[in-house]
Amino acid sequence: MKIDLIISADYIKDKIIEGKTVVVIDILRATSVIITALNNGCNEVIPVLTVEEAFELSKHSRKDYILGGEREALKIEGFDFSNSPLDYNKEVVEGKTVILTTSNGTRAIKGCSSAKSIYIGAMINAKYVAKRIIEEGRDVVFVNSGTKGQFSMDDFICAGYMINYILNESSAEVSDIAKTADYVYKNNKDIYSFVKDATHYDILKSLELNKDLEYCIKKDIIKIVPEYKDGLIK
Ligand code: MLT
Repeated sequence: MKIDLIISADYIKDKIIEGKTVVVIDILRATSVIITALNNGCNEVIPVLTVEEAFELSKHSRKDYILGGEREALKIEGFDFSNSPLDYNKEVVEGKTVILTTSNGTRAIKGCSSAKSIYIGAMINAKYVAKRIIEEGRDVVFVNSGTKGQFSMDDFICAGYMINYILNESSAEVSDIAKTADYVYKNNKDIYSFVKDATHYDILKSLELNKDLEYCIKKDIIKIVPEYKDGLIK
């Protein structure tokens, strides 16, 4: 197995991901939202790139859909929820379809369409993603969503945790950037102490989203590994 890593949505290249397994990571907060909503019984999540697309998709049967996401980390006008994973509880999402548009996370997911399998990962389901990768034994590329096209520390350490788990359980050929993620995780196992210096952490903190931050850095609290296929995440 080979392990590689892409540092942000702007760096996704078909020649790197084509035919491979990818794990898309946006711990603050898009992939944490998706995993939480599905774990709480939503039927599926549809990632879309634009606000207009979200309204268009939901217009025939608005009551069956939840519109969620953010721009500049804030709720979008006319949407039901923002991008706070804690909003997507059982009472709200059970039996519904969530249409989600976010600045980086949904863009990264849609940018991976040439991959063979696209899994959705975050700190909250990291160990279970790593186990799936080991079971399948195929080449994998961790795709960090990043922030505004840039590298982000929070996604990087999450990938590092998954890579570390895989390397403790099996052997693999690891690219330098993926090795660096493993190295960073090994030296910062207390995720908070590392992530608190990330730019996006500061942004969410300034919006008083402390509860989201606490939740998103928890390790392995959810066992599901969502997959994006044919436009839907299930
Ligand atoms: C994104 O996709 O850019 C994020 O999830 C932003 C956010 O924290 O809401």
